[in-house]
Amino acid sequence: MPVLTFANTKGGAGKTTAALILACELAGRGNRVTILDADPRGWISRWHAVAGASSLISVAPVTEETIEALTAKARKRGGYILIDLPSSHDALLAKAVGLADHVLIPVQGCAMDAHGGAEVLELLKELDVSCGVTIPHSVVLTRVNAAVTTRALQAAKDLLASRGIATLSTPIAERAAYRDVFDKGGLLQAMNPAEVSNLSKALHNAAQLTDEIVALMPQKAAPRKPVAKKIAA
Ligand SMILES: Nc1ncnc2c1ncn2[C@@H]1O[C@H](COP(=O)(O)OP(=O)(O)OP(=O)(O)O)[C@@H](O)[C@H]1O
Ligand SMILES: [Mg+2]
Repeated sequence: MPVLTFANTKGGAGKTTAALILACELAGRGNRVTILDADPRGWISRWHAVAGASSLISVAPVTEETIEALTAKARKRGGYILIDLPSSHDALLAKAVGLADHVLIPVQGCAMDAHGGAEVLELLKELDVSCGVTIPHSVVLTRVNAAVTTRALQAAKDLLASRGIATLSTPIAERAAYRDVFDKGGLLQAMNPAEVSNLSKALHNAAQLTDEIVALMPQKAAPRKPVAKKIAA
């Protein structure tokens, strides 16, 4: 029951899109997925409300007050738990990060999304240094234009690596399918290739991303202590 938290305090970094891509692919492979929608605007909840999503995916809105209890409940359901955060830097972020087995930080380009990604990395460092809680985490490059060369992409990854930041080797490409799926509802895999340009490329990208993330997950996720209380202490 791995918990993955998508975090970046910069709005529009690609958190919700990354979470949905992963949820679709995991469910397409037969996994149960619970998405805890911590964004009051509820994009994932709205997507789920459109008919056609997999019965393997359940979505629950969560707040700072309910996130711990609902994560525990989702752990009992089994499968993967994805937490989609809003861009705020607050106790909700600390709690969602503290509950995670892995924190994914979507970043567009390598400028750390005007420091939004860096803020999450600082929080993770604070947890490590001050509380002795080490939470695995990775940056995932998002909205990468298909025209970007492998070399330019590698340069961005090298720059992040030189700062000691782990970056997934699979970037999330800019794809129409990743936008359209929110309006159409249902799984990415169920979209009509005649209606969505480069759907097969989007699906291939989703599969590669999922392979890499699944390989990062602990075999058996250990129950976590409430880290946010430690931060407040
Ligand atoms: N890989 C992608 N391909 C195409 N469009 C994308 C991609 N990633 C994000 N977008 C678009 O960029 C916008 C912002 O993305 P998204 O909502 O995922 O970011 P967010 O970090 O969740 O934002 P917020 O902080 O507001 O919750 C949306 O319009 C989304 O459709
Ligand atoms: Mg979002």
